[in-house]
Amino acid sequence: MLLKKCLSLIVPKLGSILVLAAVIDHEQILKDSEGLSKYVDVFFGTEAGGNVFPGPTRPFGMVKMGVDVSGASSGDAYSGYAPDGYITGISMMHESGTGGAPQYGVVSQLASVGDDVDVTKDQSQTRLSNISDDAHVGLYKTHLANGVNVTFAASDRSGVFDYEFPADITPNVIVNASHHLVAPSRPWWTQYFVNGSIETSNDALNSYSGETTIKGGWGEQNPWTIYFYGEFSTKAKKISSFQGSNKRDNNSKESSSTQDEQFGLIFQFEKGTHVQSKVGISFLSKEQAKKNLENDFPESSDFDTLKTAKETQKLWNEKVFNKVKVSNENSTLTGLIYTSLYGTHLLPSNRTGENPKWNTGEPYYDDWFTLWDTFRSTMPLFNVLQPEYSSEMIRSLIDIYRHDGYMPDGRSANQNGRTQGGSNSDIVLGDAFVKNIDGINWKDGYDAMVKNAEVDPPYVYDSFSADDSTKEGRGGLSDWKSKGYISRNFNRSVTRTVEYSYNDYALSVVAKGLGHDDDSEKYLKRSAGWQNLWNKEASSSKVSYKGFLQPKNGNGSWATTNYDPTSCGGCYWSDDEYEGSPIEYGWAVPHDFQTLFKAIGDNGTVIKRLDDMFKLYGEGFADIGNEPSFLTPYLYNYVGSQYRTAETIRFLIDTRFSIGPKALPGNSDAGSMQSWLFFGLIGLYPVASTTTYLLSVPYLERITLDVGKGAKLDILTENFSPQNRYVQSVEVNGKNWDKNWVTHDDLFNNGGSIKFILGSEPNNWDTGAIPPSSGNHDLGLI
Ligand SMILES: *[C@@H]1O[C@H](CO)[C@@H](O)[C@H](O)[C@H]1NC(C)=O
Ligand SMILES: *[C@@H]1O[C@H](CO)[C@@H](O)[C@H](O)[C@H]1NC(C)=O
Ligand SMILES: *[C@@H]1O[C@H](CO)[C@@H](O)[C@H](O)[C@H]1NC(C)=O
Ligand SMILES: *[C@@H]1O[C@H](CO)[C@@H](O)[C@H](O)[C@H]1NC(C)=O
Ligand SMILES: *[C@@H]1O[C@H](CO)[C@@H](O)[C@H](O)[C@H]1NC(C)=O
Ligand SMILES: *[C@@H]1O[C@H](CO)[C@@H](O)[C@H](O)[C@H]1NC(C)=O
Ligand SMILES: *[C@@H]1O[C@H](CO)[C@@H](O)[C@H](O)[C@H]1NC(C)=O
Ligand SMILES: *[C@@H]1O[C@H](CO)[C@@H](O)[C@H](O)[C@H]1NC(C)=O
Ligand SMILES: *[C@@H]1O[C@H](CO)[C@@H](O)[C@H](O)[C@H]1NC(C)=O
Ligand SMILES: *[C@@H]1O[C@H](CO)[C@@H](O)[C@H](O)[C@H]1NC(C)=O
Repeated sequence: MLLKKCLSLIVPKLGSILVLAAVIDHEQILKDSEGLSKYVDVFFGTEAGGNVFPGPTRPFGMVKMGVDVSGASSGDAYSGYAPDGYITGISMMHESGTGGAPQYGVVSQLASVGDDVDVTKDQSQTRLSNISDDAHVGLYKTHLANGVNVTFAASDRSGVFDYEFPADITPNVIVNASHHLVAPSRPWWTQYFVNGSIETSNDALNSYSGETTIKGGWGEQNPWTIYFYGEFSTKAKKISSFQGSNKRDNNSKESSSTQDEQFGLIFQFEKGTHVQSKVGISFLSKEQAKKNLENDFPESSDFDTLKTAKETQKLWNEKVFNKVKVSNENSTLTGLIYTSLYGTHLLPSNRTGENPKWNTGEPYYDDWFTLWDTFRSTMPLFNVLQPEYSSEMIRSLIDIYRHDGYMPDGRSANQNGRTQGGSNSDIVLGDAFVKNIDGINWKDGYDAMVKNAEVDPPYVYDSFSADDSTKEGRGGLSDWKSKGYISRNFNRSVTRTVEYSYNDYALSVVAKGLGHDDDSEKYLKRSAGWQNLWNKEASSSKVSYKGFLQPKNGNGSWATTNYDPTSCGGCYWSDDEYEGSPIEYGWAVPHDFQTLFKAIGDNGTVIKRLDDMFKLYGEGFADIGNEPSFLTPYLYNYVGSQYRTAETIRFLIDTRFSIGPKALPGNSDAGSMQSWLFFGLIGLYPVASTTTYLLSVPYLERITLDVGKGAKLDILTENFSPQNRYVQSVEVNGKNWDKNWVTHDDLFNNGGSIKFILGSEPNNWDTGAIPPSSGNHDLGLI
């Protein structure tokens, strides 16, 4: 039932005057070519705050075509999509799974009916209440209440629309050059239309081109411009232009908080016309937008949404889904595997060749929304399954450093913007380094990391966090360098301290690998900085054990006002901790667990504390719906209690995740939730910027991953059944294995196999060495 929604009928009806060929069974054609993409539910995680983008797109596609909705019952639609509300347009660019505020939603078309289109009135459309949007990988169909059905499909840098208008009504397509997504409930982060242009060649009456300039959004982008070129399959009867203000009846909040300026063209067609259109976009120029369209659709007469969708599915299968093969004992789980893979391959966007700021021949990826979310499990997933993409992504991050001065933490519309905690590009590069990703200029890569670690970013005022820059680099760096921690003189002092520690660990790893031994030593010492904020006397009335992270004042005394280790107060930009409490951030130093566990006490106390993190055994202080606690449920492995990891991962997947639109426990965050889920389903979880993978228990009987260069990793089980959820023993590459972790070399570098022998009761099998934490450096404070 996971998949039914998207398999249902997508059968464009040919317009009455244009029936040229015998009726084709499009649905069957589509199914035949679907391959593994048929398992994907594109609506997975789109609602309940997941904010996943459901529209057609290619892996890491620049074009993400989708409906833009305002006035939805769930509030602002960050990916454009919501199942209800008013469709204000179908546009070419979106992001997926973000929090913060909506980005893009530019270059749109909107179907309208009747001889006179009064754009002084709200033109947005509800959907037919009895038909929800139909979508599958590569193809999307929506049914508007004005009787028009719209099917659309995305190509590489362009997309194609197929309209079914009722035969007896005059068809119109509104091309609104000022259209963009807005955030009525977060006006401070809404996008604004700046200016633009649109033109048509009067003789042909079938094309238009133009540009739109937008500013604002979560990253507070300066004005940026997208160019477009669009074509219709048939000549319009009439083209009219519109300009001026307009008021959306059903969106009064939007009207008051953003500009109402609108301008564009209305293409009106003869009754009964089968209207089709295709649109190319570019960040470079209108000419390039036209070229992009021609590259994607070499035949000018080609307006075939199904053909385009099939090409898209083929790409998804080849580049993504065929790399993972699973035993299909349970179609729900098979669906979850491919659906979670799909969701992780939507961002960043591969915009190589489309960078308006410099042209070096290096790959260019934008829409990092954000590394703070993706460094833990998404980027490590790419390093396993997509080394080719990974290499391009890392090269692009380094090229951004070369030209913009810093690697991003968040970036959209070709501009760095918003660092929530550390400079987590360091961990992303560290992970690529230890996983031997090819083709990277590590001299420049290391320079980029050192810049993060050593050079204060230029101050850019942020009303949410005026203490220091949030645009890029590390805010509060002066404290970090002089004190070894971030004091409360700066916002997010605990988060920054913990993340800068992990960031500097990543530097020490790369420095060591490059033979910079002094640097390696220096950054290893700095990576112990979190210990400065460990107060062994800190306590909470909610628990019996003592010792937690606690903010410090500028003079080094413990900050006590508004301090509770189990709470982060507002948990936002100007608090001590960002989206996670001190008790959660306490676990976020995987490089230094030996020191952390020494601070905590004996193994029993470590387990007791871990038990309190999720509700399976204890209090439930941690939220798996947010990234800071992604690694925490696996930490039982460090105290030789892998069975508790297995129980906790299963508990979280079974209770916090589900299937369908409300499947995710939090924002998808550019696919981070899905990457966590994917690793949970396969039974291996990466510790970013180290070669360690921690073992849980696979959800499927057999999984094979293509890990690059023709190598395969087989994840096998014995005695697999719903009751047998505990490891009895493990074999790695055919040999008995008593450790609850493996290294990248063991299984991923050249492939390999791991077999989990399962049983119904815990078995104390993991008696070998505990997982390493290779950055241990005890400052002797705790
Ligand atoms: C949906 O509603 C429309 C308009 O009310 C009606 O014409 C159509 O038959 C309904 N379709 C289905 C599948 O119920
Ligand atoms: C739109 O789709 C619905 C549902 O498939 C169908 O009943 C209706 O006839 C279509 N409208 C047009 C104009 O083709
Ligand atoms: C065009 O887009 C602007 C900005 O999103 C919006 O205010 C206006 O209502 C739109 N006009 C039409 C006719 O869709
Ligand atoms: C939009 O404004 C920018 C800067 O204000 C200007 O450079 C650009 O030419 C304008 N674009 C149009 C289409 O007017
Ligand atoms: C706006 O909402 C009202 C009900 O609140 C509804 O009657 C009206 O049709 C809506 N406008 C549009 C353009 O759908
Ligand atoms: C398939 O897996 C799901 C998710 O774990 C589970 O809820 C369901 O019961 C399983 N179905 C069967 C037939 O085992
Ligand atoms: C990224 O996009 C460029 C330009 O379209 C393309 O050449 C390159 O192959 C893409 N990267 C991957 C890994 O597919
Ligand atoms: C955040 O920084 C600003 C600017 O320094 C400061 O006014 C504010 O008090 C800080 N917030 C907290 C909670 O320390
Ligand atoms: C340190 O700073 C805090 C907060 O400003 C202040 O309350 C405390 O008195 C200071 N302690 C010393 C020893 O100056
Ligand atoms: C904690 O557990 C690990 C794994 O079983 C073991 O190696 C270590 O010696 C234990 N530590 C203590 C202090 O008992």
